[in-house]
Amino acid sequence: MGMEDFTASIEVKPAAPAEIFTVRLERPDGSWTFEASSDEYLLYAMIDAGIQTPFICEQGWCLACAAKLVSGKVDDSAALTRYPEDAEAGFLLLCSARPLADLVLYQDIHETRREMTQHRIGRNQLARAYPPGQRAGFRRGRRRLATPKP
Ligand code: FES
Repeated sequence: MGMEDFTASIEVKPAAPAEIFTVRLERPDGSWTFEASSDEYLLYAMIDAGIQTPFICEQGWCLACAAKLVSGKVDDSAALTRYPEDAEAGFLLLCSARPLADLVLYQDIHETRREMTQHRIGRNQLARAYPPGQRAGFRRGRRRLATPKP
């Protein structure tokens, strides 16, 4: 009985080394400078630097971590909700944005989320996130118990 060779050679390219960027965060109550790696999300770099910041979903959905990009460049392709209009208006979500350059960010932990929500409402983006007849792909919290049948 003959044997066939099913092995294949796959060329694996080494991952590009992460770069370290300097990030300055401006808030109404002060400013902070910290380093962030191109292979980590800004939220975690901030937490590691000891900066308290709001977050809930950690996947680019809830807008709790909203901030504004004053200068620099980020990759926010990991965010569950992401619209070009957000980037054009300077909004980003810290939980799902990685730095691609030195950055200056602005965040008012009481106002920026509200501003981004209003921005999305004004452009009907929330309707796009929940198309008619469809539900969101995940649900936080306890599942609702089924209504008992009579
Ligand atoms: S924590 Fe929810 S969008 Fe960032």
